[in-house]
Amino acid sequence: MTIVLKLGGSVVTEKDVPETVDEDRLASLAAAVAGVDESLVIVHGGGSFGHHHAAKYDVSVSEGTADPVAAREIHDAMIRLNQAVVGSLAAQNVPALPVQPLSMCARDGNGALTLEHSAIERQLSEGFVPVLHGDVIAHEGEGVSVLSGDELVVRLANQLAAERVGVCSSVPGVLDETGTVIDRIDDGDGLEHVLGESDATDVSGGMAGKVAALLELDVPASIFAPTAIEAFLGGETPGTTVGGGQAGP
Ligand code: IPE
Repeated sequence: MTIVLKLGGSVVTEKDVPETVDEDRLASLAAAVAGVDESLVIVHGGGSFGHHHAAKYDVSVSEGTADPVAAREIHDAMIRLNQAVVGSLAAQNVPALPVQPLSMCARDGNGALTLEHSAIERQLSEGFVPVLHGDVIAHEGEGVSVLSGDELVVRLANQLAAERVGVCSSVPGVLDETGTVIDRIDDGDGLEHVLGESDATDVSGGMAGKVAALLELDVPASIFAPTAIEAFLGGETPGTTVGGGQAGP
């Protein structure tokens, strides 16, 4: 079985303090991951590493920049965070390897994403845990634009035919107007008022962008808080279950 797990940027970093890793949180997540026997792909978001730099240059998933200085600045910040995540996993003896989306993904002029996943498949079959991250990627006619970790999760899960997808977030799931976790979301209809932007420096669309991306999955995804990671990795479906095509006929 293959599991794709996203560690949200606001989970592994202190989102309001530029380029600050939440070391304790990361260590406890890494310890949970160390107990997994299945094939596992990890994707992490940008948090206080990616978003500030991307916002500085007005770069988002749809708006790009042709400035190589900007592209490197955003990418290099994500590499620093990736090194911290891989380092924390390695400290728990997880066979983690860093993988850079900039080198294997691109967007065409319609925004459609391509991802060359053969190296990841081989890393998995050799027993490694590939660790990817939100990044900048070449985008036809735009220079580079942001690739969110959520887009990456969906694409990887579909291409690798993953059986389980988890998104570890700073909230216990998607919340309704009263702050209660919504158990299941099969489509985005009627949820616009619930799925607000997470904050001004989120260049990939906050919870609305996350849910919209996850609705493209072939299997359901669970959105849950860090306290539920062991439950998720143990086979449960904590938090909100999104998509997976089960609403259809
Ligand atoms: C953003 O990735 C990556 C960059 C800003 C370069 P995500 O959108 O997945 O990050 P989080 O999880 O929301 O922080």
